[in-house]
Amino acid sequence: MKNYLPVLDNISHDLRNGRSIYDGYVRGWGIQFGDLREQVRKDPLYKKALALSSGRTVVSEDNRINLFLILRFFLDQAGAGDIIEFGSYRGGNAIFLAHIVAQLYPGTRVYSLDTFAGMPATNSDIDAHQQGDFGEVDLTELRQFADANGLDNLEFVQGLFQDTAPGVLGRTKNIVLAHIDCDIFSSVAYSYEIVKAHMALGGYLVFDDATVSSCLGATEVVESMLIRRDGLNSEQISPQFVFRAGLNHPGPR
Ligand SMILES: C[S@@+](CC[C@H](N)C(=O)[O-])C[C@H]1O[C@@H](n2cnc3c(N)ncnc32)[C@H](O)[C@@H]1O
Repeated sequence: MKNYLPVLDNISHDLRNGRSIYDGYVRGWGIQFGDLREQVRKDPLYKKALALSSGRTVVSEDNRINLFLILRFFLDQAGAGDIIEFGSYRGGNAIFLAHIVAQLYPGTRVYSLDTFAGMPATNSDIDAHQQGDFGEVDLTELRQFADANGLDNLEFVQGLFQDTAPGVLGRTKNIVLAHIDCDIFSSVAYSYEIVKAHMALGGYLVFDDATVSSCLGATEVVESMLIRRDGLNSEQISPQFVFRAGLNHPGPR
């Protein structure tokens, strides 16, 4: 497998405050200032996964490229486990993730949770989104598309996270990647709170929306719960927030 990551000779490989500074620079700097975006666009695995997700996702290109880099080059640091996505919408990013892990990590399952009927009630004190946003989804067609493309490692789970996540997390192995992509304060807060006890040591917590101008609720969760309350430092803030689980206080694996 070709490794086209930049080599940053001047950066320490030591963990610092619960995250890898080196890995954060490689991905974040590499996308923003290096040529990683171009390298990933040429990667056959990325191209195939992107084609499968085409027209079905609102995840930005740089965020998707960063997720790809995590899967392709870093995820094995968290050991074996499963992936969960909070916020599926038309399922494109879940399909993208599932295709990649089917090639790289056989046995890893992807659970993608959503009402598939749009946003639940939102809070106008903090959220710009409104109830029903992202409601135009055909879940039957989506499941058929995933089946037709052999993605038997992917499960779309319908319902409010508050109703579905406890059951899903009860039957999964370690979570090696949690993709939290649900825009509003209450949902982002709930997702983080429920998933954190299930995270693998060194697992990746990726917040798609917390640096997006229309999602100050997601930003506030990261500020108030992860940074202030739980004392976490991020491995990346660009192109999206990435945190590592448990590396502040590593325990036995
Ligand atoms: C930005 S969209 C997800 C985008 C998607 N990952 C993609 O690839 O395009 C956010 C989704 O979160 C869902 N959502 C937000 N809060 C939820 C909750 N409490 N329970 C279930 N779904 C929720 C919405 O229905 C919406 O489809």
